[in-house]
Amino acid sequence: MAPAIAPAADRHVPAIAALIERGFARYVAPDTTERGQSIFRAVASGESIGRRLLTGDVGLVALRGERVVGFLEMTRRDHIILLFVEPALHRRGIARHLLRAVLPYRRGTTITVNAAPGAIAAYRALGFAPLGAMETKDGITFLPMALSVPR
Ligand SMILES: CC(C)(COP(=O)(O)OP(=O)(O)OC[C@H]1O[C@@H](n2cnc3c(N)ncnc32)[C@H](O)[C@@H]1OP(=O)(O)O)[C@@H](O)C(=O)NCCC(=O)NCCS
Repeated sequence: MAPAIAPAADRHVPAIAALIERGFARYVAPDTTERGQSIFRAVASGESIGRRLLTGDVGLVALRGERVVGFLEMTRRDHIILLFVEPALHRRGIARHLLRAVLPYRRGTTITVNAAPGAIAAYRALGFAPLGAMETKDGITFLPMALSVPR
């Protein structure tokens, strides 16, 4: 069943932060130094997410009933800074639904992401292409990728 997609609200933020922490610990932290983990956790804390949502980032949640099962955050510069789906619900189209919901508002732009190694295949399947080679910054390894959204 397709998830409902809705703008992230204040009341969702604790569940979003918990969802990200579960996914991060399992899929991203193993490729990330301790320093990288603490930098990421500062960016992905509920407080930071709540602040960015008030200052121009777009946040969307995927919901099953009232339960948050996915989250996408995009900056005003069309950069995806967070995209996480509940681990038990991977590969059921939730990330695709989240991305589809923002595309009509980003026509003619290029959406970028620093893809975690474990997420590269998913981003490729979603239409993103590498912008260069793998990079490591502040202990976080990623592949810069981009998706051109047609007009
Ligand atoms: C990356 C992530 C958000 C994808 O979410 P998802 O809901 O499982 O993705 P979807 O089911 O919408 O899949 C979208 C496409 O990617 C493909 N895909 C998803 N995961 C994949 C994987 N591990 N390997 C290969 N392809 C994959 C799907 O098959 C689908 O393509 P298709 O429609 O052509 O079959 C999810 O795996 C996740 O939360 N990972 C951990 C956190 C993370 O690394 N986030 C990214 C940080 S940059």
